[in-house]
Amino acid sequence: MSTPNNSDPDAQFTVTLLFPDNSQRNINVPVDEFILDAANDAGIVLPAICRHGRCLTCAGRIVNNGDSVCDFDQSHADAYFPADRAAGFILPCTAKPTCDLTIKTHQQDAMRTHRLAHGLPAPYA
Ligand code: FES
Repeated sequence: MSTPNNSDPDAQFTVTLLFPDNSQRNINVPVDEFILDAANDAGIVLPAICRHGRCLTCAGRIVNNGDSVCDFDQSHADAYFPADRAAGFILPCTAKPTCDLTIKTHQQDAMRTHRLAHGLPAPYA
């Protein structure tokens, strides 16, 4: 696999989605596309309500692949906090990969519990 360059508008990253039933799917996500949209394009329907990075319904959690440089762009989310990133939570509706990622899906309850524990907004909790 080649190493995509973020300045290349045609770059893509491989995002592996791990589902609650332990199945998984790899999707290709263009550098300028939200992960949730790319999943939808691949025929994968993930939970989502607001699609603005606010409601936490789409929450996932990064599975550490040992690459500390690996990251994602969550700057389009309406509400995303340093504590969320520190805990590995990601909101795929407004997240763009900057490397290959593995994401455990269906983490909305865990993220709401995390937010409440940190005194942060947790819609629908
Ligand atoms: S769908 Fe609401 S935060 Fe992603």
